[in-house]
Amino acid sequence: MPFSDPHQLSLETVIAASPMLGHRLEDRTRIRDAQDTKLQKLWRDASTIPLRNASQQMDFVVAPLDVLVSREGAGPVFHIIELNGTGIGGVSNMPSEAIAAVTESLREVAANLAEPEKVLLLAVSGKECEKNPRLNKLMHEKLIFAQALAEGLRESLDDSQIVTLDGLGSGNQHYRPGAATVVVGYIKELLEACKVDSDHKIWLHGRQVVGAVNDRFCLNLLSKHLGKIDLAEFTPINGTFLAGGDKGLAYSLLDEYLTCQPQTCFPERVRHTHVHSREELINTVLQWQRLGRRTVIKPHGTGIGHGIEFFLNPHESTADVVARIDHSIELTEAYYGVTGGTFPYTLCEFVDSDVISSPGHRLDGHKYELRIVVYREGLSLRACPSIAKVASQRYAPQNLQRDGLINNITHTSVTTTADGADFMLPLCNRKTLQTLDLGIDQIAQLCCVATQYVRFAIECIGQMDQRLEAMRHGSNIEMPQSVLRRMTVAQTA
Ligand SMILES: Nc1ncnc2c1ncn2[C@@H]1O[C@H](COP(=O)(O)OP(=O)(O)O)[C@@H](O)[C@H]1O
Ligand SMILES: [Mg+2]
Repeated sequence: MPFSDPHQLSLETVIAASPMLGHRLEDRTRIRDAQDTKLQKLWRDASTIPLRNASQQMDFVVAPLDVLVSREGAGPVFHIIELNGTGIGGVSNMPSEAIAAVTESLREVAANLAEPEKVLLLAVSGKECEKNPRLNKLMHEKLIFAQALAEGLRESLDDSQIVTLDGLGSGNQHYRPGAATVVVGYIKELLEACKVDSDHKIWLHGRQVVGAVNDRFCLNLLSKHLGKIDLAEFTPINGTFLAGGDKGLAYSLLDEYLTCQPQTCFPERVRHTHVHSREELINTVLQWQRLGRRTVIKPHGTGIGHGIEFFLNPHESTADVVARIDHSIELTEAYYGVTGGTFPYTLCEFVDSDVISSPGHRLDGHKYELRIVVYREGLSLRACPSIAKVASQRYAPQNLQRDGLINNITHTSVTTTADGADFMLPLCNRKTLQTLDLGIDQIAQLCCVATQYVRFAIECIGQMDQRLEAMRHGSNIEMPQSVLRRMTVAQTA
């Protein structure tokens, strides 16, 4: 029998014991085991592109894209609806090679940020609702990330440690003198516990915070202390966190990218707009309704479908529209602790996405979306199709239910008693491709665009400050001429 380190527990063991340790964790092994490594490698190689510049290496770890599929003509049309970021849920259903690349990037980034007695945060989504706080069922995935960060810190320093925000708060855990520390905590609680001083530095329980993993948390922290955080003293991991956390920014980047580099299997333009107040939100939804558009509203810096509303009925009364908008604002205000709601909201067009059409399949008739994870390996970007996320309810056009329109796995595992894994299909898998009627070449094309789009987002990091400022004032900002020129050259080459 091979020797195994008696001090190391397997993920499987931790998951098995989890109900006794705290709360039950979700096992995604069966999805991971069903990923076909041949397909994964094929798509990985087809999509690999170099970063434009070696200096961008520390700016990016991972972006799990959400992609809707529509069927308008002969083939599928792909709609990227979210960039997401290092708060990724579901690394444990990805092929192991891709997880290893992500943890290696985290190690590198942590080694680069390591300083004695400084803190890196690992922010975890959950506990949004006070009355019924959601515990994260993928906590073990976060621990993989925490371990990678701590190892990276130790590469540069003598000592590093991992503690929890709870432990620091209750006095059960302490910062070790001299050690760099990874603090794991829920987003909402970390947002409350972090203090910003007059030098624009962030502090947590007496130590300076120099970086944080989780795009949405970074965006929320910067939004909460707008203009008061010095980005020379604090590194959001990813540097693309604004687009990772704000769906509207991700749309803007996508629209700019597709305008310069039209792609087959993608829409020509991505219609969307940012709105900055309740009045503007109501007026714009009503205006779009009058124009016959089907609209989706998305709050700023939220997840798990929170606050997303679909306006699909052209005859819905103004009172009902306003009531649903107010419900969204109130919910996000409460869940995300933001007075006045999580503005700016993004308005976008509803994509009437594909349903699984496979008679006899247990998820026949359900809507789905694709998760394509773009990650960095050294100086390259690569894509890994991870899963198809399937809505928990069958799609019924005559009786539209919100749960039939939301393909968010965490949402499903909260609103039903089922495991997330029951509503996902491994994407590196020929049977799944057949079920979804998608071809290997079509996914390859999607993966290529995914890495190019993320590379474009990385190139725009330099103007993120301006974008944040613009968001504050409600204006749009132009893409820099240098980037425009390069894209135009690339297109004509
Ligand atoms: N433009 C759209 N058209 C149709 N459905 C959408 C659209 N945008 C989002 N959705 C649905 O809402 C869900 C959540 O939206 P998303 O933007 O991914 O936010 P999050 O997952 O962060 O809550 C998606 O999984 C999808 O089912
Ligand atoms: Mg999503």
